[in-house]
Amino acid sequence: MATPHIRAEKGDIAPAVLMPGDPLRAKRIAELLFDEPRLINDVRGMLGYTGEVDGKPLSVMGSGMGQPSAALYASELFKFYGVERIIRVGTCGGIAPHVKVGDTVIAIGAHTDSNFNQSRIPEIYFAAMASFNLARAAYEAVPEGQRVHVGPIVSRDHFYRVVPGQVEGLAKYGVLGVEMEAAAMYGTAAEYGKEALTVLTVSDHLLDPSGDMSAEDRESKFQTALAVAVAAAHS
Ligand code: HPA
Repeated sequence: MATPHIRAEKGDIAPAVLMPGDPLRAKRIAELLFDEPRLINDVRGMLGYTGEVDGKPLSVMGSGMGQPSAALYASELFKFYGVERIIRVGTCGGIAPHVKVGDTVIAIGAHTDSNFNQSRIPEIYFAAMASFNLARAAYEAVPEGQRVHVGPIVSRDHFYRVVPGQVEGLAKYGVLGVEMEAAAMYGTAAEYGKEALTVLTVSDHLLDPSGDMSAEDRESKFQTALAVAVAAAHS
């Protein structure tokens, strides 16, 4: 039983799926987490793997970049493969001034400039929310000493477009960071009565371009976000 974009059979994919944007990152996560990663998808290079962590099944698959791509894969996982929860793991640009490069962000809601969720409920501006249970489990799994923020992010459709006043407005309203997938993923989870969460590492800051991560820092923060996401997936 393949779908147009996933060649796996039903049962090949675990009830919980980690989704980085980059399919090669999915491969790397699978190699890190699983003793025996099993390739379950390579259609369009969107690599997906299934394995076990502490005896519990887990899958990891790329989502691609942007809301349409992330929502397309999330829809097929929820609708055809019985997936119950998706945890997006990725990076974001920091927006609120108290958010620093290297911090962890648990996105409990996602504003957006996209129309993706707007047609869901007649005459309603959809509020894209994460699963509280997943968010709580993720928060509890953050290692001591790691800076963590729980709050809203923004999922933008443009990476490069600059809108005068927008970043400042988002910062004023306490928006922690910007990425490009969460809002549509949360809307899709709500559509199918499933759970979704986004766990992000702040890779740069829009209001403070000076901060950058060393290669070492990148790796350790990546491992932190991954551990948090796995804990939520198996909570
Ligand atoms: N936008 C801007 N900066 C970023 C993003 C983004 O989507 N992701 C990481 N840094």
